[in-house]
Amino acid sequence: MKTKRLGILISGRGSNMLALASAIRDGQISNASIAVVLSDKSAAAGLVSAREQGLTTTVVARRGRTREEHDAETVSVLRYHQVDLVCLAGYMRVLSSHFLDSFPQRILNIHPSLLPAFPGMNAQLQAIEHGVRFTGCTVHFVDETLDGGPIVAQGIVPVLDDDNEETLSARILEQEHKLYPQAVEFVVNGTYKVDGRRVLRSHD
Ligand code: GRF
Repeated sequence: MKTKRLGILISGRGSNMLALASAIRDGQISNASIAVVLSDKSAAAGLVSAREQGLTTTVVARRGRTREEHDAETVSVLRYHQVDLVCLAGYMRVLSSHFLDSFPQRILNIHPSLLPAFPGMNAQLQAIEHGVRFTGCTVHFVDETLDGGPIVAQGIVPVLDDDNEETLSARILEQEHKLYPQAVEFVVNGTYKVDGRRVLRSHD
């Protein structure tokens, strides 16, 4: 099987990007390599960590351009690196239709809640304030909705009575670092079909 080339998009810390890199290194994700780590922010800490790992990095800065203009450059950089699968990992931008159409069902995102609960920003705080007893994280295909595409995998994290945003976020993040590699391994090597909103495993 041909090795799938991943493009990982970040805007900040990049811990999920590092979790994917280490899962590829230790064989938990097979048939995949990281073609490029791309950030829209030159100051993203994750760029430094990616370079320390010997990964190729690039910055596509916003520079006052429209979303469409910025996305067009991002797509051409991803194409230049022959990316097969795009993994958003803390990438703080909503994608244009040109971007979505360029990688149909080949863009994944990780979100720190059990979607469809608590989409958007501050999902961990939303969970605490709502009083749910369980939250978690979700890996999903990206479509034109905000955190609303077909769900690939979810991980559950209990909310403890003495949790605050920081403690809960830290426990969800641990779970994210396990879930995202599992989901990428599944998308790269598993057999499935996307039927409406449902990602169905096939066993043939
Ligand atoms: C994670 O909580 C992820 O779920 C959300 O943004 C955060 C990114 O963290 N989309 P990191 O940059 O991967 O450390």
